[in-house]
Amino acid sequence: MTSKPRLLVFDSGLGGLTVHKALSDTLPQAETIYVADDAAFPYGDLADQALIERVCAVMGHLIPAFQPDLAVIACNTASTLVLPDLRSRFDLPFVGTVPAIKPAAEASLSRRIAILATPATVKRDYTQGLIRAFAGDCDVILHAPAQLAMRAEQVFEGGFVSDHDLRADLAPCFVEADGRRTDTVVLGCTHYPLLLERFRALAPWSVNWIDPAPAIARRAEALLASHQRLGERAAMPHSHFFINTGADDLYSRMRSPLAAYGFTMGQLWPIR
Ligand code: DGL
Repeated sequence: MTSKPRLLVFDSGLGGLTVHKALSDTLPQAETIYVADDAAFPYGDLADQALIERVCAVMGHLIPAFQPDLAVIACNTASTLVLPDLRSRFDLPFVGTVPAIKPAAEASLSRRIAILATPATVKRDYTQGLIRAFAGDCDVILHAPAQLAMRAEQVFEGGFVSDHDLRADLAPCFVEADGRRTDTVVLGCTHYPLLLERFRALAPWSVNWIDPAPAIARRAEALLASHQRLGERAAMPHSHFFINTGADDLYSRMRSPLAAYGFTMGQLWPIR
């Protein structure tokens, strides 16, 4: 039996691993279940109602099965839409991931910032609301490269993605006008920090890249401390457990990069 905190960390694919890493650094004692809903990847292409139903259905399987103390929606595309439904349907705290527009506006000296996110996230009212609330005095570039989440997964798996393609994905974020250049880029999709080293090398000039993962981990830590946790449960066979919903060979294909993130066991959990 164990009374360790237990976290469910959820994304459409492997991007949420960037958040999982920050969570396990901040809460090394926690058990984690990482869920990649690859059967429905990419979320950035789904219609709003389909995404709400999908995320609620997957959570409806996983929450009773694993009884986590807290769930982290490590996906901007889902969090900017689905959190109200999740909070009304399930009785546990949820931590979301939304584009870090407030910290970007606070950090920008040039008052020209870019938000790099999925096609769905840039269209959301939620994202527009964050811009109005926190970046009203900034020039904001919203940019959604259609293939970028996919490219991040390819690179994670050890596949080849050309500098040319990544440069083209980034280019619209870099604007120089009226003597002011973009100085801050929000990584508004959890897949993108997987490519951060490439972004740094390919950017036409140096900028401040904002990754929300450390702030999410701090929020999860604070919520765990302030909420009544579930009592003793059977311990999980491995502290960090990886689940995916689609490809039956995902874990075996990615065994080595996933081991670098602490996952020594994975399982297919087909959810139709
Ligand atoms: N990782 C997800 C996000 O943060 C989305 C990728 C996708 O499924 O389109 O938005």
